[in-house]
Amino acid sequence: MTVMTSDPLASAAPVIELTGARKTYHTGDIEFEALRGIDCRIFPGEYVAIVGPSGSGKSTLMNILGCLDVLTSGRYVLAGEDVSTLDEDALASARNRRIGFVFQQFNLLSSLSALGNVELPLIYAGVAPAERRARALAALERVGLGDRSRNHPGQLSGGQQQRVAIARALVTEPAIVLADEPTGNLDSHSTRDVLAMLDDLHAEGRTIVLITHEGDVAARASTVYNVTDGQFVGAGTEIAK
Ligand SMILES: Nc1ncnc2c1ncn2[C@@H]1O[C@H](COP(=O)(O)OP(=O)(O)OP(=O)(O)O)[C@@H](O)[C@H]1O
Ligand SMILES: [Mg+2]
Repeated sequence: MTVMTSDPLASAAPVIELTGARKTYHTGDIEFEALRGIDCRIFPGEYVAIVGPSGSGKSTLMNILGCLDVLTSGRYVLAGEDVSTLDEDALASARNRRIGFVFQQFNLLSSLSALGNVELPLIYAGVAPAERRARALAALERVGLGDRSRNHPGQLSGGQQQRVAIARALVTEPAIVLADEPTGNLDSHSTRDVLAMLDDLHAEGRTIVLITHEGDVAARASTVYNVTDGQFVGAGTEIAK
């Protein structure tokens, strides 16, 4: 591993740019600063891992990057658009256009089939039914689950459910894939499958941001950021390949 001293991608515009990012949660009278001034630039096609102890703010950061939540102060520019000040609807639109999510708990809707789950982001995007179905099926085939499209999540293994979630993340062709502990609930075999799929998405030119506790998982990334108490510790570390 070598510490990054110069930025080889500095001439390209960052796809993610956080400046002085702070997030304060309020629970009754109690305030908690989960993010305490994070500055970060992520460039198109980068594979970034974010590591840090439990409670350090990783998921908070992921929710911000994914436009699921907004900063208390500071600025977030996503693909050239300042999303810090967007209202709920505009934020949802930015999220739907640019980002695919993969979560530790899969977050599939149990009442829908695999196909129905993968179609969901296309419904939000206003894609017509026939095209929606075809694209969702192609995404399921891509993750090796073309023959399971009618199964509901409860009828699939954990590894299969995560593959459905990956199909749902890639069906909109997002520029950015955010994955929060995507292998946290998987056995070693499914972990390998899921990481290989993320590698493929990266090889296609997508930007990947992966949150993980596991060092060997983080080693897949090209840059690793360490979060402690809501702050990045040290510079991003570039992984020598
Ligand atoms: N909605 C919320 N309201 C109040 N406090 C919150 C909220 N969400 C998170 N926190 C607090 O913010 C801190 C950071 O939480 P976060 O979920 O980002 O941690 P994490 O790094 O993802 O941890 P883990 O590795 O356990 O998933 C924690 O102390 C947590 O208790
Ligand atoms: Mg978390």
